[in-house]
Amino acid sequence: MKDSAARHSDGAIISSDLLRQLAYNEKMAELGKISAGVVHELNAPLSVIISASQMIMREEGVPDSVLEMISRISSEAQRLSHLTKGLLNFSSHDETVVDVDLNLTVDFILNFLNYEAARRGVIVLKQLNYSLPVIRLDTNLLKQILLNIIMNALQAMENGGGKLLVETAAVGDDSICFNITDNGPGIPAEAIDRIFDRYFTTKKPGEGTGLGLFVTKNLVENMGGKIIVTSRSGGGTTFTVTLPI
Ligand SMILES: Nc1ncnc2c1ncn2[C@@H]1O[C@H](COP(=O)(O)OP(=O)(O)OP(=O)(O)O)[C@@H](O)[C@H]1O
Ligand SMILES: [Mg+2]
Repeated sequence: MKDSAARHSDGAIISSDLLRQLAYNEKMAELGKISAGVVHELNAPLSVIISASQMIMREEGVPDSVLEMISRISSEAQRLSHLTKGLLNFSSHDETVVDVDLNLTVDFILNFLNYEAARRGVIVLKQLNYSLPVIRLDTNLLKQILLNIIMNALQAMENGGGKLLVETAAVGDDSICFNITDNGPGIPAEAIDRIFDRYFTTKKPGEGTGLGLFVTKNLVENMGGKIIVTSRSGGGTTFTVTLPI
């Protein structure tokens, strides 16, 4: 056997690139489980911070400057607590079919990716239609769809000066949609027909599996929706996902 290949337990020969990718995926899956435990542990100290700051705010004679700082501590702790609870639900394996508010789900994912956007210097803009009806679907799958598309956009804007726009809108009486637009390099014409293919990636081994959009398209279509992309090489990219009400 050549050293660039290994034998899988079912007898199949797998390349060293694929082996490295499988090992990486396995590591990320383990890391995900550990992170879920850490996030869970954050809940208790956050509750203490929130209730202690509320007790201080109810005390008499607390100077205004202190009250202001305590109220900031309290609202930041509440934001984190909201995020950790959302993350715990998101990491759950269970089916969570509920009436979903698309705008709240967008807010949750943008909050979650705040750090990823900030470290790339990406400005995030939102244009949300707040009179959308709720849609009944698995909220974790919708989060995964948003996460995959937005992560791709952030990764495409690695070189600074990035702008991400997330829009939600009604489409007639029976559908709603969201658009994710970035001003990254765009997708070249020769790649655009292949981006939804299984394993199609332009990223280095270990950085992308090429499964993100393949899974995303399948999830959207299983929900009875559709996903389209418009992009010009050098001119940014927009993904539009339409979902039936
Ligand atoms: N917003 C975007 N701008 C430019 N290229 C994009 C954008 N979104 C997707 N692509 C291209 O489509 C390819 C496939 O995306 P997909 O999400 O399926 O896989 P990936 O991001 O490469 O890997 P993974 O999602 O598994 O980490 C990417 O490698 C990239 O070339
Ligand atoms: Mg991806």
